[in-house]
Amino acid sequence: MWAKKEMADYLLRQHRVLRPYNYPPDVPGRGWCIVNANGYRLAVLNLQGRTFMHPIDCPFRAADRALEEIGDQADAVVVEFHAEATSEKQALAMYLDGRVAAVVGTHTHVPTADERVLPGGTARLTDLGMCGPVVSVIGMDADTVIPKFMTALPSRFSVASGPVAVMGAIIEIHHATGKCHSISRIMEEYDDTIR
Ligand SMILES: [Fe+2]
Repeated sequence: MWAKKEMADYLLRQHRVLRPYNYPPDVPGRGWCIVNANGYRLAVLNLQGRTFMHPIDCPFRAADRALEEIGDQADAVVVEFHAEATSEKQALAMYLDGRVAAVVGTHTHVPTADERVLPGGTARLTDLGMCGPVVSVIGMDADTVIPKFMTALPSRFSVASGPVAVMGAIIEIHHATGKCHSISRIMEEYDDTIR
């Protein structure tokens, strides 16, 4: 997101496009928003991990602060945790169990098989995967990625072609409690070639 300078203005205009809440305070954009779904107020909170990533503010403490800010403005809260390490993502889900409807991860582009409703009623899935070409290296053309591993030199990646998949999860939230009923992983594959 930060590679495109134009995004800074866009983030200020589009309240549903989030950046991680735990960036320093003067960074453009916002870390949570409320989506109104037929009168049901669903808060979406975006956080970023620190393990094997940019060292930014603690996502655990930031989650506490964000939940306090959101307070009773929302009926339920879904957390999207953009992080590399499965352990950090599972740890945040356990930390927030019972306080949010779901903690789902992104960033690796590879879906995990650990979807579960935790004891406190929070749905957890360490990584949702991606929407993109599946005969690839996390969505990129392998021919543009392999040289980077073999030479240790930077290279320009391009998006792969071939069959594409939509990955994610369907999460059922109990209306009154804001806790989760069920989570199921989805992966729908299509033969379309993207160009
Ligand atoms: Fe990422």
